[in-house]
Amino acid sequence: MKTIELTAPSLTAFRKTDLPDPKAGRDEVLVRLRAATLNFLDVAIALGNFPGVVFPIIPVADGAGEVVALGEGVSGLCVGDRVIPHFMPAWQGGAITPRHVAAMRGVTLPGSLAEYVAVPATSLVALPAHLDFAQGAALPIAGTTAWNAVRSAQVRPGSVVVLLGTGGVSIFALQFAKASGATVILASSSDEKLERARQLGADYLINYRATPAWDEEVLKLTEGRGADLVVETVGGATIVRSLKAAAVGGTVFTVGFVSGTVASIDLLPIIVKALRIVGNNTGSVADLAEAARAISSHRIVPVIDRVFGIDDTRAAYTELSTGGRHFGKLAIMH
Ligand SMILES: NC(=O)c1ccc[n+]([C@@H]2O[C@H](COP(=O)([O-])OP(=O)(O)OC[C@H]3O[C@@H](n4cnc5c(N)ncnc54)[C@H](OP(=O)(O)O)[C@@H]3O)[C@@H](O)[C@H]2O)c1
Repeated sequence: MKTIELTAPSLTAFRKTDLPDPKAGRDEVLVRLRAATLNFLDVAIALGNFPGVVFPIIPVADGAGEVVALGEGVSGLCVGDRVIPHFMPAWQGGAITPRHVAAMRGVTLPGSLAEYVAVPATSLVALPAHLDFAQGAALPIAGTTAWNAVRSAQVRPGSVVVLLGTGGVSIFALQFAKASGATVILASSSDEKLERARQLGADYLINYRATPAWDEEVLKLTEGRGADLVVETVGGATIVRSLKAAAVGGTVFTVGFVSGTVASIDLLPIIVKALRIVGNNTGSVADLAEAARAISSHRIVPVIDRVFGIDDTRAAYTELSTGGRHFGKLAIMH
């Protein structure tokens, strides 16, 4: 089968290879992969910022494709089914453990830049019927994380949700929050992206370059109350403002670190407002299945900003690692 391998921790170390086709073992399914989407995780690996990677690897955690063969003992799936293989196949549900993290597609297991992958049948989730492969491939990391955020804060009509930036997680969170009836305040560096977010339903838009004190703007817009949920995708540069922007009893769902992981914070807003600071590390197969069901019932269409051919893998990685240009997700088709 044709694959792209990453031979070293470098954005210039991609090579095309021909490897033997994998076979579906007992309880496994062979999937013909059709699309992959990139996450910050993939870029971190390619930049050498992720521990425990033994090169060469077949990179990219997230993907989608169709079933081409069933191993012994597999039931409930058919050849031709369109599926999303979860990137941590052992994490069926419940809390994440080191065992789940140790077996990650695109890191320690073959990822999505290959024609075929053999995965446990239990790691597959049906691709929602209204989505294409690239849109489905966006679900495991960004989609599930955004779903967990909205679910954790019990977002409902009347809730106020604050989103930072217009990357994969924020745009999914915008779609889930609007589908749940919430009011969404979204901050971005770009007026053009803010306009795109408005078209997806964002109610209030803040350019954080023009208005660096966006937390004060959130308080103004909510008449001093603040947000029931802040999805913290940025990290060190924004966590202090996120704590200030949250309402009494609000949730600061802490997932991202595009601006680094270190911050000096005042504990008082957490204590006085009895905030919920909720950490999250992606989601399980059960979480992905739930996110996919919500996407089906609300007819949500994930936003794929650009689609790259597999031969342009390096360009796709460069686009994501440069930051600031994309809106939603970047996909690679093969
Ligand atoms: N822990 C988890 O469960 C989990 C799961 C998925 C992702 N993540 C992490 O979450 C983060 C976001 O992921 P992603 O896939 O959405 O990333 P992404 O697509 O690369 O988006 C990042 C966005 O952050 C925005 N941004 C950068 N600096 C900002 C600032 N100072 N204030 C507000 N926005 C800012 C930018 O939006 P504009 O261009 O609009 O300004 C940028 O597009 C990453 O660190 C990723 O590793 C964690």
